[in-house]
Amino acid sequence: MERLQKILSRAGVASRRGAEKLMGEGRVAVNGETVRELGTKADLARDDIRVDGVRVRAPREPVYLLLYKPKGVVSTRRDPEGRPTVMDLVPPVAGLFPVGRLDVTTEGLILLTNDGAFAERVAHPRYEVARVYHAKVRGVPEAATLARLRAGVRVEGERLAVDAVRVLAAGNNTWLEVRLHEGKHHEVKRLLEAVGHPVSKLKRVALGPVTALGLAPGQFRALAPREVRALSRPRAS
Ligand code: URA
Repeated sequence: MERLQKILSRAGVASRRGAEKLMGEGRVAVNGETVRELGTKADLARDDIRVDGVRVRAPREPVYLLLYKPKGVVSTRRDPEGRPTVMDLVPPVAGLFPVGRLDVTTEGLILLTNDGAFAERVAHPRYEVARVYHAKVRGVPEAATLARLRAGVRVEGERLAVDAVRVLAAGNNTWLEVRLHEGKHHEVKRLLEAVGHPVSKLKRVALGPVTALGLAPGQFRALAPREVRALSRPRAS
C-alpha cells in the first residue's frame, strides 16, 4: 500500500503536488469511490485507480539494451522484405524499439529502448553523443583529405563534416576512425565517397561512453544505470 499521491506521480500522471491538487478537486477515484483525503493509501496492483475516469496503469520499467548488430540485419522493427531485424536478436520487451539506424551493410552498436525521451536525447545532435566508426576505405587518404573532412564537404547540397578522423592502418586499403555526433542518412559513406575513398566495410564501435568491447556480432547487454545517465546528459551548453 502506498499513498495515492505517490502512486499517481510514479505513474507519470502528475507531480506529487499536482496529484494532491487532483485529489482535492475530486478527480481521483479508487474502486469507484472519489478520494479527497490526502493520506489515503492504495495498491496499484489490486485497486482500480482512476483520474477523470481514466484507469492509472503501473509505470513501465524502462529497458536499455546495447546490441552489436551483425551485417545483413536491418535496424527497423519490421522489414517488408522479410530480412532479419534487430528485434530478432533481443528479448520481446513491450514497446522496445531501436534508437536511430545503421545501414544493413554496417555492423556495430545500436541502442534499443522503450523509453522515448531517452531515445530522443541520444538521437539529437544537440546532446552530442559521439558516434565512432571504423571504416575500411579504398586507397590511402592524404592529410589534406582528412583536413577537408574535418572542415566540411558539400555532398548533394548538404554540408557534412566529421568531428575527428584518423588513420588506424594503411595499405592498399585504409582503416579510418571517424567520429561524428549526428546520424544523418549514410553520412559516413557519403562523406568518404565524396572525397574519393569509398567505404567497403563500416563498423560502429562506440556510442558516447559505451564501446563494443566484449560484444560479438549478434550479442547484446543491458546498459548500466551510469551509462544510461551518461548517454542522456547534454554535453553542449
Ligand atoms: N553512416 C553510414 O554511412 N552508414 C551507417 O550505417 C551509419 C553511418
